Amino acid sequence: MKIGILTGGGDCPGLNPAIRGCVYRALDFGYECVGFLDGWKGPYNAVTIPLGLKEVEPLVDRGGTILGTSRFNPFKKEGAPEQVEANLKKLGIDALVAMGGEDTLGVANKLHQRGVKVVGVPKTMDNDLSATDYTFGFDTSVTRALDACRALLDTGTSHRRIMVLEVMGRHAGWVALYTALGAGADWALLPEFKPDYAAMAAHLKQVFARKKVALVVVSEGTEFSEDGEEPLGEKDAFGHIILKKRNLGEKIADYIEKETGVETRSAVIGHMQRGGPPTLFDRILGLRVGVKAAELVSEGKFGMMAALRGQEVIGVPLAEALANLKVVDKAWLDLARVFFK
Ligand code: F6P
Repeated sequence: MKIGILTGGGDCPGLNPAIRGCVYRALDFGYECVGFLDGWKGPYNAVTIPLGLKEVEPLVDRGGTILGTSRFNPFKKEGAPEQVEANLKKLGIDALVAMGGEDTLGVANKLHQRGVKVVGVPKTMDNDLSATDYTFGFDTSVTRALDACRALLDTGTSHRRIMVLEVMGRHAGWVALYTALGAGADWALLPEFKPDYAAMAAHLKQVFARKKVALVVVSEGTEFSEDGEEPLGEKDAFGHIILKKRNLGEKIADYIEKETGVETRSAVIGHMQRGGPPTLFDRILGLRVGVKAAELVSEGKFGMMAALRGQEVIGVPLAEALANLKVVDKAWLDLARVFFK
């Protein structure tokens, strides 16, 4: 049995441990593993590297992905799915392990429906994939954002300023929510909820009067009324608008300064959230879902994804994971509001 492994979409800490977990477990079954380079471009261009003990042994604490990644979507290119299938045959790949979020796993599921033997591994720092309690990458990215908040609070306290931190999170505000709760922030703006900017400004005025500093955490995908229509701009191969061009944190800081009269500064943590060594949680989760992926292959359970449910890692249908995006609900927002005093 020969397994091809690929990583697609935005990278995040935990991918390398997941590759390691999959290869180590595959070795138990006597399988050979190869890595496809750069996401779905790998099978499309038939570019592989060997993945044995030597290659994966050092990966337990490495951020990023040794396989490289891309947002290449074979279903957006004429003849590409057929080329992928032909290459898998040519290279003697019996099963594919695709590690990614909704876009990468969406491609995996479509290929599965065409008869390709695929297993999924959930990955996203946004934590917005359904059917799994957590995805690796999330814990590390929030941990990095918490460090950023601590730094912003230190300088904000010294200068008597309001500080705004913009974090990643396109459709789901999990990163902003957990960062705000974990950092003791005074307001959070999440893409799931229409923001009440006037209420935020009034609240920040009151917070600032009390402690001479305030912290706001904003998710990059949050609506900002002064933007007018949905921001248009360059899109990636999966049709998502590239959000970094919005400068949302800066716009919100300007708004706060105007409304409160308090000097306000903003910072964007951006891709620093996606790199660096994975936290312990993400290392263990990455290893576990990687191991489970190899086990699903050995059991012939294709079209499935390794998912964390409670304390267990189990196989769930890819279709279940892709049915809906997991977003922050009102109960979570209400919890956050308890701490906005
Ligand atoms: O992987 C999802 C994500 O982290 C989003 O939160 C963010 O908008 C996007 O990736 C950034 O992608 P890129 O690395 O292509 O700039």
